Amino acid sequence: MTEMKIIVSANYDEMSRLAAEQVATLVRQNPKAVLGLPTGSTPIGMYRNLIEMYRQGTLSFKQVTTFNLDEYIGLPPGDVNSYRYFMFENFFKHIDIQEENIHIPDGNAEDLEQECIAYENKIRAAGGIDLMVLGVGNNGHIGFNEPGDHFPVATHVTKLDESTIQANARFFDSIDQVPRYAITMGIGSIMRCHRILLLASGKAKAQAIRGAIEGPVTPKLPASILQFHSDVTIMLDAEAASLLSRSR
Ligand code: F6R
Repeated sequence: MTEMKIIVSANYDEMSRLAAEQVATLVRQNPKAVLGLPTGSTPIGMYRNLIEMYRQGTLSFKQVTTFNLDEYIGLPPGDVNSYRYFMFENFFKHIDIQEENIHIPDGNAEDLEQECIAYENKIRAAGGIDLMVLGVGNNGHIGFNEPGDHFPVATHVTKLDESTIQANARFFDSIDQVPRYAITMGIGSIMRCHRILLLASGKAKAQAIRGAIEGPVTPKLPASILQFHSDVTIMLDAEAASLLSRSR
């Protein structure tokens, strides 16, 4: 039996609202909270809800610090497909967060190895991440920790899985333009976060979610490592939850 808390919502909107509530509750309790954040389609609804709370004056990010999970390597600065661009468009430019408190790996750093080490050091200097919000790939990746034969520990440069390149091609003009490499927090960086909130929506995630929650812990399905974390909440919509065993 896992310690994971599983919350199944009827649909994406409901899941997004609940996820935003979790983040908001933490930030209200601790206005200096350190958040780990994902990009992708999944968290967009959560970000919309958080922006709405900020607009209504019920939530402030003024003292919040953020660390993004990952960034593509080699996209020109300001590229609309960079995760930096995504985060500003979908979240940061709409709230009162201080720019100096925003951290996103630099996929154009001259020395990428050094950038990875510096990123880990910044997380440590901030006192670690209080709440890490994660999406999950169709193949079970978290961050860009792709299925493999071991769990990469620290922030590192990784080659994207063919299936990830295909899944992410939807945002680019052609599949050739999808970067092949990225910087990502490692599995160790993720497991050191005090709390984890993983979100998954839609049928394409159902298999990975079943494996992550009910299967063996294996680097072939990186999200399965979360079974070893002591404070994980998994929020699903009905489709993403559709392959979980009924006894649950
Ligand atoms: C994004 C990230 C990825 C995504 C995953 C799901 O920062 O680290 O692991 O969370 O690929 O992406 P979506 O939400 O687009 O299905």
